[in-house]
Amino acid sequence: MTDDDVELEARLAEQESFDPPASFVDQANVTDEAIYDEFSENWPECWTRAADLLSWDSEYSTVLDDSDEPFYEWFADGDLNAAYNCVDRHVEDGNKNRVAIKWEGEHGNTRTYTYQDLYREVNEFAATLQELGVKENDVVTMYMPMIPELPIAMLACARIGAPHSVVFAGFSADALATRMNSADSEYLITADGYYRRGDALDHFQKAQEGLDNVEHDVAASVVVDRLGDDGFGHELSETQYDWDSLMDAHRGDRVAPVERNAEDMLFLMYTSGTTGEPKGVKHTTGGYLAYTAWTAQSVLDLEPGDTYWCSADIGWITGHSYIVYGPLALGTTTVMYEGTPDYPERDRLWDIIEKYAVDVFYTAPTAIRAFMKWGTEYPDSHDLSSLRLLGTVGEPINPRAWKWYYTHIGHESCPIVDTWWQTETGGMMVTTLPGIGTMKPGSAGPPSPGIDATIVDTAGEDVDAGRAGYLTVNKPWPGMLRTLYQNDERFIDEYWEEYSDPDTDEWVYFPEDGAKIDDDGYMTILGRVDDVLNVSGHRLGTMEIESAIVGVNGVAEAAVVGGDHDLKGEAVYAYVITEDGYAEDEDLRESIIKGVEDGIGPIARPEQVIFTEELPKTRSGKIMRRLLEEIANGEELGDTTTLRNPEIVDEIEAKVSGD
Ligand code: WTA
Repeated sequence: MTDDDVELEARLAEQESFDPPASFVDQANVTDEAIYDEFSENWPECWTRAADLLSWDSEYSTVLDDSDEPFYEWFADGDLNAAYNCVDRHVEDGNKNRVAIKWEGEHGNTRTYTYQDLYREVNEFAATLQELGVKENDVVTMYMPMIPELPIAMLACARIGAPHSVVFAGFSADALATRMNSADSEYLITADGYYRRGDALDHFQKAQEGLDNVEHDVAASVVVDRLGDDGFGHELSETQYDWDSLMDAHRGDRVAPVERNAEDMLFLMYTSGTTGEPKGVKHTTGGYLAYTAWTAQSVLDLEPGDTYWCSADIGWITGHSYIVYGPLALGTTTVMYEGTPDYPERDRLWDIIEKYAVDVFYTAPTAIRAFMKWGTEYPDSHDLSSLRLLGTVGEPINPRAWKWYYTHIGHESCPIVDTWWQTETGGMMVTTLPGIGTMKPGSAGPPSPGIDATIVDTAGEDVDAGRAGYLTVNKPWPGMLRTLYQNDERFIDEYWEEYSDPDTDEWVYFPEDGAKIDDDGYMTILGRVDDVLNVSGHRLGTMEIESAIVGVNGVAEAAVVGGDHDLKGEAVYAYVITEDGYAEDEDLRESIIKGVEDGIGPIARPEQVIFTEELPKTRSGKIMRRLLEEIANGEELGDTTTLRNPEIVDEIEAKVSGD
């Protein structure tokens, strides 16, 4: 670091709030603070402002139908098509030559799709899907890396009204099979492989293993040839087709976009919850698309001429909402990158930003922490002056990382939006609006216009400023999940039971996050209060990891908790009791790690596997996870007097600290 840097850091370390630069405010999409009042005074009609960003085939007559709470319906009698909104209308509006997707492969090869190109490919793939037998409302699973065929396939599904279910490519074969089984999905779109840190990965092998465990017939799979000569030479079976050959047969085909009711399902996205079974979050067409377009416009400040880059993977909700649907609905250029940020060098992201003159960049705190560790020489060697706005999502960002991002990437001239939201919320919920709010590093900000969120204690009463409580949302919003796929009961249990009052018919959504609020109404998110971990911004259920570990030969019982981790935010700590006759050795440790990788994926890999004779349990037999977390974090241990076996705690502690 130079002396200037040291001086700058010292100055910023003291600063607790930052105002958006005038140059940003002058051009921002939303600059009038009155928007908050306008939305709350005209709620729910205010949401026509979001719906007006879309083109409707037939207009809706009611904004919100709350006759069957909490099964809310938005714009319910309107019809529209999401692919038409993300593609066709931009072509019709004279923007056929504007770039829709800028893609860069890990090796630096690039592909550019104008809106006309995207229109052609989406139509041709829609025709392909129809030929394969896909009908409206059939769930099509995608298990694909970050290649343009993924958004093309998603939009082709949307065009014919077939909901997609995208499974993150880093998930295991088992995870794929579980999701296909749960959704009864008979179609799979996948790829032969992709590149990671220079190596070609065999993705088809995993897809094949997943397919072998699907319980129903799979009508057809489509395989994109990503690797070419680097491929692994797998033979395709009778129901497996090569993407290019199918597309060649449909060159020039056009498929009329089907009119979907606003409440028809657009997609399913599986996410982790408290139990071992992932939850199929159902999002519908009108409300979701209106909400993502609106938040992309008001929070990410996107405009049609922008080049925008969200470095998430489309396999997660962030990629669905803010690589594909939100930006494309607005007619923006969205950038996609296949690989990792440190290949071939640690300046890859800054190289991409410079090369494409990216205007708005959206990433995760875990990435920012890695950039900080690597050092400023990487961003410093690039011209990042095209940037206008920066965003973060996925986990809390600590003030030091925020300030680093602000200074070394934004050069003090870009506001930062720290956006809190979830798979279930569809889009951003708590964040400053970049042209209005003062930013406070570490605090996401106030609830967005039209979002009625509060922080309450266990009795549901508002907590005082500065006190920790639970985040709740008291009114519905258009982007919200509609239910858990084929499981209305679990939908109510998971999200509504805790704080709703059936006597007064008051319905309160509980996202399972802890938070606190300051005197200005800014919310600081403290993290999950359920058994969900946030590892590098990826959401993982402790129960899912535990069941993968217990499935390993030789394991009797396991408890998984999150421990603090400098880069990942949280890391997986697995406490394991072996079965009699099994040695607590390196072989077993490796099988456990492999069990987790096979059951979920490498992202869930335990940081530490700690063998123990017993787990700390209360007299009623409940594992005291709090203690296991404290041990993982090397913290002073809290009360152990309610334990049945307090002596085990010291033993475990000694093992973790290596004493
Ligand atoms: C966490 C990702 C603090 C939170 C969009 C939430 C955050 C979970 C933030 C959802 C943020 C997301 N500050 N925590 N800005 N954004 N989270 O479903 O715990 O993968 O419940 O959606 O991430 O993760 P999910």
